[in-house]
Amino acid sequence: MPISFDEHKKIFKLDTPNTTYAMQVIRHGCLAHLYYGKKLTDNDLGYLIRGINLSFAAYPAEEAPDRSFSFGTTPLEYPAFGIGDFRTPCISVEGADGTGVTDIRYVSHRIYKGKPTLSGLPATYADENEAQTLEIDMKDALTGVVVTLIYTTFENYDAITRSCIVKNCSDSDVSIKRVLSACLDLDTCDYDMITLYGKWALERQIERRRLAHGIQGVESMRGSSSHQQNPFVAIVGKNTDEDNGEAYGMSLVYSSNFTALAEVGELNTTRVVMGINPQNFSWTLSPNESFTAPEVVMVYSDKGIGNMSRTYHRLYRNNLCRGYWKNRRRPILINNWEATYFNFDEKKLLDIAKSASELGIEMFVMDDGWFGQRDSDKRGLGDWFVNENKIKGGLKKLVDDVHTLGMKFGIWFEPEMISEDSDLYRTHPDWCLHVPGRGYSLSRCQLVLDMSRQDVIDYLFERMSSIIGECGIEYVKWDMNRSLTEVSSRLLPPDRQCETAHRYVLGVYQLMERLVSKFPKLLLEGCSGGGGRFDAGMLYCSPQYWTSDDTDALERVRIQYGTSYVYPVSAMGAHVSVCPNEQTGRTVDLNTRGNVAMSGTFGYELDLTKLTDEEKDTIRAQIKEFDEQYDVISYGDQYRLINPFEDNYSAAWMFVSEDKNRAFVTYVQTKTDPNPPMRRLKLKGLDPTKRYIDTQSGVSYMGDTLMNAGINLPMMFGDGKSCTFKFKAQEK
Ligand code: GLA
Repeated sequence: MPISFDEHKKIFKLDTPNTTYAMQVIRHGCLAHLYYGKKLTDNDLGYLIRGINLSFAAYPAEEAPDRSFSFGTTPLEYPAFGIGDFRTPCISVEGADGTGVTDIRYVSHRIYKGKPTLSGLPATYADENEAQTLEIDMKDALTGVVVTLIYTTFENYDAITRSCIVKNCSDSDVSIKRVLSACLDLDTCDYDMITLYGKWALERQIERRRLAHGIQGVESMRGSSSHQQNPFVAIVGKNTDEDNGEAYGMSLVYSSNFTALAEVGELNTTRVVMGINPQNFSWTLSPNESFTAPEVVMVYSDKGIGNMSRTYHRLYRNNLCRGYWKNRRRPILINNWEATYFNFDEKKLLDIAKSASELGIEMFVMDDGWFGQRDSDKRGLGDWFVNENKIKGGLKKLVDDVHTLGMKFGIWFEPEMISEDSDLYRTHPDWCLHVPGRGYSLSRCQLVLDMSRQDVIDYLFERMSSIIGECGIEYVKWDMNRSLTEVSSRLLPPDRQCETAHRYVLGVYQLMERLVSKFPKLLLEGCSGGGGRFDAGMLYCSPQYWTSDDTDALERVRIQYGTSYVYPVSAMGAHVSVCPNEQTGRTVDLNTRGNVAMSGTFGYELDLTKLTDEEKDTIRAQIKEFDEQYDVISYGDQYRLINPFEDNYSAAWMFVSEDKNRAFVTYVQTKTDPNPPMRRLKLKGLDPTKRYIDTQSGVSYMGDTLMNAGINLPMMFGDGKSCTFKFKAQEK
């Protein structure tokens, strides 16, 4: 029984293969957090809660004269605002009294097989044999609001998901001011916090800081999860590294404004909370209405950060990504963006597609610039009609011509956006986010459509599905190239304006859902100026995401390394592009560009008609190598070997197939070392008792040799050189 309840002690215990999570209903119906960490056999963990008589603590009046119980000194499962816990709360609901003081107490619970879906929201999924769920109802007697805390444990993963539903069970409206998804109270503060920060073209850089007293954390108020901070945080032991020590990961399955905070309090305890950013958020609930908070996926590892990441990778690959392409080999693609930008016609595109097909590339993707008057980023967004001056003969003809080459056809959309200079704006100026009477902000010369409106979503669905359906298009790159400002909807009354941002993202999810339901074989690749919305919410809708607009292989080493803290390589769009690189001006050899892009959903993004014969041969060899290694890379376990954020000269990572019979290793010499030491690379994740053959050199080694003594690395001259190794276990 992964989830159990001790009726007598009122203790909930949630077990995964190697972890335990426990909580208890204590006095006053308060739900206290007991433990989260390595698996425990004991069930009676109630001794972990101790009364503390702390001066200045607030205690419920009925406790007097014993002051040893306070909400503020107890580790709590889901802290409410205003009743004596002065740490960061998860919930505040304003009832008729207008105070926001909220006091939820245990009422009942249910344990059942499987996992519920979350209305309108992305979430991990599992069938009845894969997971068990606990729902705990907590009620606020005064407002009549019931908060249902939802926990799911997985049979095969050391992951626990959390979410909650707030239901108004009273006769009058209430307003939710704050509703976070999860809280984790830890009983020390001896931790570091790891977050993934960045900016456009430099997403998900790894940052590690020591926790200090007070509140620290990351958030987004951009209306998307953002380039700047990813909705992920790991709380790790001070000595935790890739392979050793404790790591608690929290990843939010949500693509809009979020907060992820760690607060170290006066008792040197740590509270970590995560959920929708409360800034400018509120939600009115009429009687009987419910609000569902997005899911947080918690992973605990006592074997370091690498093990935590691999749990996320497996879970997200198998139980978050969905649909036809989930576990299918994705087509190797050529995208024309960096080859042509806006300057193309159908002939140029076909020339690129022809060169691509000769090299063995399987899909042609037509990027921005094919519609409306879109000859630059100044106009045209929203006018999703093909520009026949550019695509002469029409889109269907171009798609057919590409199909004749034996390739699939993909297309770029930026559905959520509208240019002022567009027919759509001229017809529907009210469809964009704006505050009447105020000026408005442009970004990349564009405005944002109000995706909280059903008429907007219906227009986009009609346009996109007509084009996809009529032309037989197999892939969509769904872009989103600015942050949200003046977030306000013309269809909502003043007291509901702060619902707009959440309604917006629900609209985005709805449109994606409708598209993939109508075209089940459509491959959706998410994008937001590169990786500005690379989050677990998006991976539920699109199994791959454009990782970054920075295609420089050496920058990508760090970006993809950071991204791999949470997200699997099968989700990371990675392309070989031209040199000198368009973003950095750096030249990196083609071999390395291929080796780095191969650790992702592989593709090319350059003018293939300008290649030399030698370059063509290199690309053919890359495609052959990717074909051979695709399943190890995409479905194998990833082990990070050398961290480019710590090592000035190199980076390395590897993939091991589930049966441990194959391994694929990538080593990149990011910078040359004039008098290089004899470098050796110790591998990980292999079976120590198996003998592996290096398929290039023919030399064989035992798994324990490869992992403890390592392989010799070749001497390579120059920055940005790289090599790969392929190992196969020999039959015994
Ligand atoms: C964004 C994307 C790019 C490209 C351009 C087109 O920047 O990340 O890949 O599609 O938009 O305008």
